[in-house]
Amino acid sequence: MKPILVIGSLNMDFVVQTDKLPLPGETVKGRDFSTIPGGKGANQAVAAARLGGRVRMAGRVGQDGFGRTLTEGLSSAGVDAGRVSPTSGVATGVALILVEREGQNQITIAAGANDRLEPADLEPAFQDFSQGLVLLQLESPLQTVEAAVRLARGHEATTILDPAPAAALPQTLLSNLDFLTPNETEAQQLLGEPPGEIGLDEAPALGRRLLELGPDTVVLKLGDKGAWVVNRQLSRHFPAYPVKAADTTAAGDTFNGALAVRLAEGGSLPRAIEFANAAALSVTRAGAQASIPSRSRVDRFLGEHRG
Ligand code: RIB
Repeated sequence: MKPILVIGSLNMDFVVQTDKLPLPGETVKGRDFSTIPGGKGANQAVAAARLGGRVRMAGRVGQDGFGRTLTEGLSSAGVDAGRVSPTSGVATGVALILVEREGQNQITIAAGANDRLEPADLEPAFQDFSQGLVLLQLESPLQTVEAAVRLARGHEATTILDPAPAAALPQTLLSNLDFLTPNETEAQQLLGEPPGEIGLDEAPALGRRLLELGPDTVVLKLGDKGAWVVNRQLSRHFPAYPVKAADTTAAGDTFNGALAVRLAEGGSLPRAIEFANAAALSVTRAGAQASIPSRSRVDRFLGEHRG
């Protein structure tokens, strides 16, 4: 089993369930409120550990209660959190999340300490790490993400970048990636196109255009339509498994954590995508890290649904 290193964000999620997402300028009356550990980096780390990976995470939190809770949460999920640094003079990252009844959400983050993660933090993160998988997202400064990809190359590691939140990215970064895993909005942002739903008939061409940006493999995450995978050998649809979505928060993070675990175990790419699709059963439960399934639950689910 190869090691997995997650470099990225930790947020405390402030979640309100609501019957209706507000329009700009509108106030709506929501329902329940809860604080749930989240952050795209930490969610990926917890997913990878809960699904059986050997996981280390590097990130930054404030010297406050949320920072301590998030770091302890990583450790109790089995993640080595020794490179998550408490940072003075800045608050732990938070996310404000509205979840609508059908499972759709709106998220705004205040990055706080996540914005202090520097390239200098990466040397200790990569200590004694080689030939593993490195998971990255875009809730950390871009120059740190770029430095991480360079270091990963030197350590013969496989890189998986989740380009979330959506942003345009430099060619030098994209062409050094092994895997790029955008959802629909992120794919359109990378290609400079207006947002909108992507039909399965459009996915292969879109995937090829993303591949031309430079990564070795593009995994286009299409929500309840599954994933479209494109590389030099393959252009293939992997349908989603039928689940009833209650909350889609962290579904993409769980997918990436699961993909990394199956690849770390030596699984083939098609098997790894099937496993990652099955892990998206996280959408049946509320919250980010609170919804991430165990390995036994995903294996059982796959056993029940494999054709
Ligand atoms: O991907 C879901 C995550 O996005 C949430 O946990 C929130 O913290 C934001 O980072």
